[in-house]
Amino acid sequence: MKKPVSIGIVGCGYWGPLLVRNFRNASNCQVQAVCDLSDTRLAHVKRLYPEVNAVNDYNALLKQFDLDAIVIATPVKYHYSLAKASLLAGKHTFLEKPMAASSEECEELIEIAQSKGMTLMVDHTFLYSSAVRKIAEIVEAGDIGEIRYINSRRLNLGLFQKDINVAWDLAPHDISIILYILGEFPVAVNCQGNAHLTPDVEDVTNMSLSFRHKRFATIQSSWLEPRKIREMTIVGSRRMIVYDDLQTHEKIKIYDVRVERPPHYDTFAEFQYSYHYGDSYIPYVHQEEPLKLVCQHFVDCIHSGAQPDTSGQEGLDLVRILEAASASLKANGGPITFGHGQSRMKASTMPANWGVQRSVGISGG
Ligand SMILES: NC(=O)c1ccc[n+]([C@@H]2O[C@H](COP(=O)([O-])OP(=O)(O)OC[C@H]3O[C@@H](n4cnc5c(N)ncnc54)[C@H](O)[C@@H]3O)[C@@H](O)[C@H]2O)c1
Repeated sequence: MKKPVSIGIVGCGYWGPLLVRNFRNASNCQVQAVCDLSDTRLAHVKRLYPEVNAVNDYNALLKQFDLDAIVIATPVKYHYSLAKASLLAGKHTFLEKPMAASSEECEELIEIAQSKGMTLMVDHTFLYSSAVRKIAEIVEAGDIGEIRYINSRRLNLGLFQKDINVAWDLAPHDISIILYILGEFPVAVNCQGNAHLTPDVEDVTNMSLSFRHKRFATIQSSWLEPRKIREMTIVGSRRMIVYDDLQTHEKIKIYDVRVERPPHYDTFAEFQYSYHYGDSYIPYVHQEEPLKLVCQHFVDCIHSGAQPDTSGQEGLDLVRILEAASASLKANGGPITFGHGQSRMKASTMPANWGVQRSVGISGG
């Protein structure tokens, strides 16, 4: 029997208490203490979990308790400093998405984690969802043919963030899923958007990621929509998938539809697109709370010393795309290109690290 991993959780706002619940339920793990600047939020967690220690001061959290690991669920602008202090104190560290506010910050955290031999994991929650894993399986099996494009919409009214725009808040989910499914890093990013309520904080954005072989993905993110929408369409040359994360049971639907051009024709009158309408079907997806798997994975990686599926490297990849999106917003939607888009391992080899090779920075255009 291994000694349980002793965990401290920083940030008890909206997401923190969900992490407390899931880490409490994880095996080989014990939530020792939580930390928040707000007494109200600490009192909330204490009401739910009276046995957990609660402190205001982060340094006290690091020093007072004999913790093995720190979990950080604060606003993004604090991720870097809190994670750096945690790693330097010799604690395994878990960061909420997006990993940090810049790629430089991510790179430094990765270096410190490596030099200290600490596990560094980023919560890209959707990569632990059974629905997303099922989609990757279907794509990898070749069932839908060649992917032509992916379109993703993540829209609702609020919750407005003050320190990051809607792309940094919502698009990390879509980007992580798209990179996972395509198994590839984009060659360019374009992003347009508008800040209607808070100056310089875009509340609606349209991002597009261009990949090799003319494949692309579009991501629409908004805090200004009347209805909550969490929908992704994956258009393949043979079939198409619609993934609606708001459905309780039937999250994935596969449509056996396609359009083909006639191979040859002599006159314009003979030219007819051929539309194929087949069955649609709903594959079985075993339901399990993704965050439960995320938390257990972190604990297991600490015990085994294995690299997490969503390590600092995947966190950095995602932040590089968000940075490119911000640069494109400033350039009125102009493309921001990466040095060399590199193929990653195919989705079937996940959950292993997806092996994006670093490209050589971004350039505006
Ligand atoms: N993985 C997901 O699906 C998911 C969903 C929601 C939020 N998140 C992420 O979780 C993080 C937190 O988001 P949220 O919506 O819970 O934010 P929030 O504003 O509701 O809560 C943040 C909490 O952190 C506390 N805090 C801030 N600075 C602190 C410090 N230095 N020390 C201690 N406490 C501090 C605040 O008092 C607040 O209670 C963000 O990175 C966000 O992107 C992830």
